Amino acid sequence: MWMHYTIRRFTLAVTCATLMAATASAQDQVRVASPDGRNEVTVEIREGKLYYSLQRDGRAVLLPSQLGFEFRGAPPLRDGLRVVETARKTVDETWTQVWGEVARVRDHHHELRLVVAEDGPSGRRFAVVFRVFDDGVGFRYELPEQPGLGAFEITEELTEFVMADDARAWWIPAFQPNRYEYLYRSSPVSTLDTVHTPLTMEFRDGLHVVIHEAHLVDYAGMTLVGGREQNRTLRTYLAPWDDGVKVRGRTPFATPWRTIQLADQAADLAPSVLGLNLNPPNVLENTEWIRPMKYIGIWWGMHIGTMTWGSGLKHGATTENAKQYIDFAAENGFAGVLVEGWNRGWDGDWLANGDVFSFTEAYPDFDLGAVAAYASERGVELIGHNETSMGIENYERQLEDGFALYESLGMSAVKTGYVGDRTREGHAHHGQYMVRHWRKVIEAAARHGIMLDVHEPINDTGERRTYPNMLSREGARGQEYNAWGGEGGNPPEHETILFFTRMLAGPMDFTPGVFDILIESASGSPRRPEESRLRTTLAKQLALYVVLYSPLQMAADLPENYVNQPAFQFIRDVPVDWEDTRVLDGKIGDYVVVARQERDGESWYVGAITDEEARTLEVTLSFLSPGRSYVAEIYADGPGAHWLHNPLAIEISERPVDAGSRLTLSLAPGGGQAIRIRPAR
Ligand code: NOJ
Repeated sequence: MWMHYTIRRFTLAVTCATLMAATASAQDQVRVASPDGRNEVTVEIREGKLYYSLQRDGRAVLLPSQLGFEFRGAPPLRDGLRVVETARKTVDETWTQVWGEVARVRDHHHELRLVVAEDGPSGRRFAVVFRVFDDGVGFRYELPEQPGLGAFEITEELTEFVMADDARAWWIPAFQPNRYEYLYRSSPVSTLDTVHTPLTMEFRDGLHVVIHEAHLVDYAGMTLVGGREQNRTLRTYLAPWDDGVKVRGRTPFATPWRTIQLADQAADLAPSVLGLNLNPPNVLENTEWIRPMKYIGIWWGMHIGTMTWGSGLKHGATTENAKQYIDFAAENGFAGVLVEGWNRGWDGDWLANGDVFSFTEAYPDFDLGAVAAYASERGVELIGHNETSMGIENYERQLEDGFALYESLGMSAVKTGYVGDRTREGHAHHGQYMVRHWRKVIEAAARHGIMLDVHEPINDTGERRTYPNMLSREGARGQEYNAWGGEGGNPPEHETILFFTRMLAGPMDFTPGVFDILIESASGSPRRPEESRLRTTLAKQLALYVVLYSPLQMAADLPENYVNQPAFQFIRDVPVDWEDTRVLDGKIGDYVVVARQERDGESWYVGAITDEEARTLEVTLSFLSPGRSYVAEIYADGPGAHWLHNPLAIEISERPVDAGSRLTLSLAPGGGQAIRIRPAR
């Protein structure tokens, strides 16, 4: 039986040849494969315990891995289990994104829903739902309402991922003071301690596997614990409440999806849509007001020390400065201007001011109403900033008033911030309390027509599908690490790892586009090599606009550093919303080449970046429309360019190209290349 119906902007075709409930005896193995037949999940009961395993093309990816829960005050849901019911269905639908790396997303999967019960007449029941796609697997638990299971406190989610190979993993440590802001390291799975997801792994035969989660709404964020016994088992470890309980809930209840993305090579990992397909469709009736944009901001000055957030002689957020930034934005095609430090609360040690910040009251030298009105007159969005310093109760108390004020002033974007590893109230940064908070903010923002850019966020788990006002977030080491003194900044390989790890979760507000690579603006003289500075070439800063996807892209530098810079033209041209994305080549930690087609347009943009090694890469432009002539505007590392010795050498050229052209990209050490390919006039 086929059902066709239209829901808002997409057509859904669900094959319901299925939904046949079947019973299975206790020792049965139940299998479900992806539409292309390559990925297969097997679920089975062994000695009363529930396991799943995963194969691709018949070879093991995950060996039998346990499922279940431990509770406080109730026996675990783990033992004496039997499968009492199975149901299957197939979905094949294509839906359109409000914005994204690709305009349309196909959700094609086979679903298996198993109901498991404990032995005995009063045994509790739960379901595990597997969705198997060509690009991976998602599964989640569903706890139905039942006599023996009402309110519950999960002390452990027992989900395991027993890796069939001691794969090489790219990881950042979990439960550290700087949240997700660490440099990635790589080592075999068997050596891992507690790490964040997305966890990208490469098997020795080249298979790439990424474990992450999707649709995290009212649960604790997931981390993975591995290797402690020198084995290849990764165990789920949820960020706890302060009493050790991980999740408080009440049936009926569904957990987030656990996702296992699969790809034959690194270049096939992105764009990653598995998590999006596991989130519910957009719930916002009207999305006209949601507009991806490029922005500048009163921001970099604070990070390099020429301005302050707090009041005083160097206060950055003055009415006058803001108007100048708005003028620059209007003249150069930026839709937004971020202003940080406009609101009361920054004076003294702002990291400790979580209970002090006002989100409605401006400093006396910043006239919020006048600046917002000036921005509107000039066709620019004023982006408000709400740093909480993890004072969550203080923020939640003011949330409605703040967002209502911004709405009344015509402001439709806010950047939030959560510096700190625990809330002022003592909750873990990505535990259930904070997960609830972030959802509350997304919903409040949606009600007030506000787009969000969240810094120090929780992991992206695909919220943007349901709430497309959740535009971008940080959640990794961004450009700002290059500004701060002391540790030398991000190494040249950093972004070539980010692309295959953090970016698989969703957009990142990395804030590229710093032209003053040696940060001379800070003191009038170039920073020394060992000081924090950018460790890229100028051309690589441009390429990052294509490589690191964000619907909000900042031109992070001080506006004066863009004046009379021919390379600035690329930042003015590059779009922030894409029709299509193709990863042309890449190796984690070495290099990546990405081509993206502008949304509803004919132009393509190519970004290529490398680590500390110089590289020459060949690229075929077969993605262009056949028979059509184009012009490639090329921003390449110039002769002798080198991130350390000669970062500013850039060569800008044009050449005619078509779908049959091959380009040779020469990337300097720490370099990159950015290309705009527009139809010839
Ligand atoms: C850290 C954020 O990443 C940065 O963008 C912001 O300027 C500061 N916190 C202050 O909120």
